[in-house]
Amino acid sequence: MGRVRTGVLISGRGSNMSALIEAAKNDAFPAEIVVVLANNIDAPGLNAAREAGVKNAGIISSSFPDRQSFDRVLDESLRTANVSLVCLAGYMQILSPWFVGRWLGKLINIHPSLLPAYRGLHTHRKAIADGARIHGCTTHFVTPELDAGPIIMQAAVAVAPSDTEASLAARVLEQEHVIYPRTLALVASGLARLKDGRCVLDGMGEPRGSIISPSI
Ligand code: GRF
Repeated sequence: MGRVRTGVLISGRGSNMSALIEAAKNDAFPAEIVVVLANNIDAPGLNAAREAGVKNAGIISSSFPDRQSFDRVLDESLRTANVSLVCLAGYMQILSPWFVGRWLGKLINIHPSLLPAYRGLHTHRKAIADGARIHGCTTHFVTPELDAGPIIMQAAVAVAPSDTEASLAARVLEQEHVIYPRTLALVASGLARLKDGRCVLDGMGEPRGSIISPSI
């Protein structure tokens, strides 16, 4: 069976996109990144994608009367590229329910918190303000409700008393780059899938160990 043709949507720096492209350079990886699309002309990730060898990297201009018209063009571009999976990687525009419905089960996102805690923006700031001891990141299938779709994978990060928003974000980002490629591999190979509004995982072992913070 061929590798799953995958598109990545970005709005900015694109470090998660780069992690996906890097993982997919291995021929044994079950997905290949064939297109990167940005909604933002200044997205530095577009150059990174081209430098990493993704020929099909471009911008969808934002001159549309409404979100659904924009999403129709986005959908067409993805279908023209013959894509079967779509990864949101720092894509900062809310997708229309129409688009989400069309790609349901084939559309995944990464979010910088242990969902369902801290949906939306400024997750690291909120975790620090709450005095959370453990924070992290989550990959999930996208559903129409923002950051609320079925969870696929999570990684936890201990919060240090000295942490600032930036230092915590950096450690969480490292983990994002670990779990996003793994998530894409699980979904592309069919080991993780959306069924009846939940994420079903096949062939996973029992969880080992636990994370305790502070670990004294
Ligand atoms: C990441 O923290 C991701 O979880 C969030 O937006 C940020 C994007 O960073 N959705 P990058 O563009 O992948 O570097």
